[in-house]
Amino acid sequence: MEELEVNIIQAETLEALEKVRLELFGKKGVLAVEFAKMKDVPGPEKKAFAEGLNTTKNFLQESFDARYELLKSEAIDAMLKSEAIDVSLYGGLAQKGALHPVMQTMDKIIDYFVALNFAVQSGPMVEDDFHNFEALNLPKNHPARDMQDTFYFKDGGLLRTHTSPVQIRTMMQTKPPIRMIAPGTVFRRDYDITHTPMFHQVEGLVVDDKGKVSFANLKSILTDFLQYMFGEVEVRFRPSFFPFTEPSAEVDISCIFCQGNGCRVCSHTGWLEVLGCGIVDPNVFKAVGYEEVSGYAFGLGVERFAMLMHKIPDLRSLFEGDIRLLEQFR
Ligand code: DAH
Repeated sequence: MEELEVNIIQAETLEALEKVRLELFGKKGVLAVEFAKMKDVPGPEKKAFAEGLNTTKNFLQESFDARYELLKSEAIDAMLKSEAIDVSLYGGLAQKGALHPVMQTMDKIIDYFVALNFAVQSGPMVEDDFHNFEALNLPKNHPARDMQDTFYFKDGGLLRTHTSPVQIRTMMQTKPPIRMIAPGTVFRRDYDITHTPMFHQVEGLVVDDKGKVSFANLKSILTDFLQYMFGEVEVRFRPSFFPFTEPSAEVDISCIFCQGNGCRVCSHTGWLEVLGCGIVDPNVFKAVGYEEVSGYAFGLGVERFAMLMHKIPDLRSLFEGDIRLLEQFR
């Protein structure tokens, strides 16, 4: 029976060896069959028969164990070889991230107002008609609603078109005086080189007792703010219209590309429009239940500021996620 060792030695893999193990040592294997013959062996010969069989069994078992160890270590060697990592190979430096230019600009704006004791407020991006329009003196069918191409939901909800609804929410939750900014994401159906459907605004609101807040206050703080953002620029206030302020103004800075001489960016006017503002309309105070107060408000687009400050020609490039653009703002 020793010739059965050949099967063990010829097994080339652990799987093949396992098959041999079952054939030899299994419940119905060759050895089991031999041991079963014991009962037919005459009494006096039983001992010699059993001893012979056990010797054979031990011999095969040793041969098997040796083969198993060999194949096992070969398998481990092969695995280590295939999974080897050369730690001396140069892997390049990990890419380092940076704040998005829009967020950098937002932070710079927020820093200014926080230093002047403005609280930072926020509100939901999914708004309702009341907060986004109605309370801001934009009743249904008011033509000024067309100024803002709104994304509506089927249930009448909408994506806020500006951060002005945060004014309303804050006034309805707190008593005057109020001194706040609301930075946030807003949405409009618009897409060209100066518009993307998602963009960011910072809204500002100051409310105090009647007669305490004036247009002169508004003018001086915004002039200082714009010079903080853009350096030595001239600032001018141009009469305009917003439903939520009266009087209202649009604010221009002297063109930072041509120093006011006229160029393509400023459409040869020498001025760049950068924000809207005004004295809070009494109808807004009425909508939130405020009496005997005065206030000013302003709103600006963060992307427009970022574009001007960094001379970015196409606003859409800010949201393409192209690492080559972002790398320039580290
Ligand atoms: N909500 C205006 C917009 O999105 C911006 C604005 C203008 C806000 C004048 C104001 C303001 O608070 O007084 O176009």
